[in-house]
Amino acid sequence: MPAVKIVELTKVFRSGFAFVPTNRDSLHFAHRLRLTGIRRIRTVALDSLSLEVEEGEIFGYLGPNGAGKTTTFKLLVGLLRPTSGEAWLLGNNIRDISSQKEIGFLPEQPYFYDYLTAREFLDFYCQLYNLSKQARKRRVSELLELVGLQDAASVQLRKFSRGMLQRIGVAQALINEPKLVFFDEPMSGLDPIGRKQMRDVILRLKADGKTVIYSSHILSDVEEICDRAAILSQGKLHGVGQLNELLGVRKQLVEMSIEGLDETSKAKIKELASESIERGNRIILNISDEVALKEAQDIVIQQGAKLLSLIPRTESLDELFARKVE
Ligand SMILES: Nc1ncnc2c1ncn2[C@@H]1O[C@H](COP(=O)(O)OP(=O)(O)OP(=O)(O)O)[C@@H](O)[C@H]1O
Ligand SMILES: [Mg+2]
Repeated sequence: MPAVKIVELTKVFRSGFAFVPTNRDSLHFAHRLRLTGIRRIRTVALDSLSLEVEEGEIFGYLGPNGAGKTTTFKLLVGLLRPTSGEAWLLGNNIRDISSQKEIGFLPEQPYFYDYLTAREFLDFYCQLYNLSKQARKRRVSELLELVGLQDAASVQLRKFSRGMLQRIGVAQALINEPKLVFFDEPMSGLDPIGRKQMRDVILRLKADGKTVIYSSHILSDVEEICDRAAILSQGKLHGVGQLNELLGVRKQLVEMSIEGLDETSKAKIKELASESIERGNRIILNISDEVALKEAQDIVIQQGAKLLSLIPRTESLDELFARKVE
């Protein structure tokens, strides 16, 4: 049984109004509304998503801003109702309340009670699950240890750094010992050390046999630890699999830096490049095919311009990701 099975899940938001003005003002108002086509704005946040995540996997959910990642999580954990489609978490349909029993969720912008200490905060949430005082004490210590906050147990959350808050949010999502957890952008706003700590927490959860699904719009957050990933863009799935097979072959590029071109040759040379930046009288180009490279070099020679550098390199994962999403 997959940990998550999603079949053609769709979410359409209807919000605001689009107004098409008319000059047939004599019409009855209600009638006019209909004729002039005043309609609610329709956003297809998730467009027929089908996806399976296996038990015990770390699964990355990648996509640029507005792709529909948060919408997917909210649908799965029961905070939004699907417009159509079905999904099952650990075998239970998401329309059934029992599907929420063994899951944990870290929202994109969690809210914290600032004046509680880390220990008090977690203890408060443990009380919601009716744990006895002793069980709570044990569980809170376990959780603080898991997310590496044992030394900050008595510190008020308002004194926590961003990374510490993300980690206490993760601890809170794990109180009920869920088998399946959803983290929405757990690494956003974290520095490299914070990202590493978050990765370590996720790896420990996997070692404990949990299934972890987390979203990010940054490829490198996902590539190091995910077993598989999905790429979402504008509500549509663009692929699922291991990252290397998902992203395919990386392009070989040559980065060319030139000084002293006139405007006409600058325009010509820019057309040969996949990307170009101008800095003063310098121009830096990324060129990805050999014929274009040869032509660019010819322009430099004809113009008597100065070739400052010519550096071959492999396209970065982020460039590749941006290209795929486009
Ligand atoms: N409550 C809502 N009402 C109307 N439109 C919404 C609502 N929530 C989300 N949307 C729209 O749905 C689309 C997907 O939004 P969503 O928040 O799921 O994206 P995301 O992938 O989580 O983006 P981000 O990386 O910025 O968090 C966006 O176009 C957004 O404007
Ligand atoms: Mg989001």
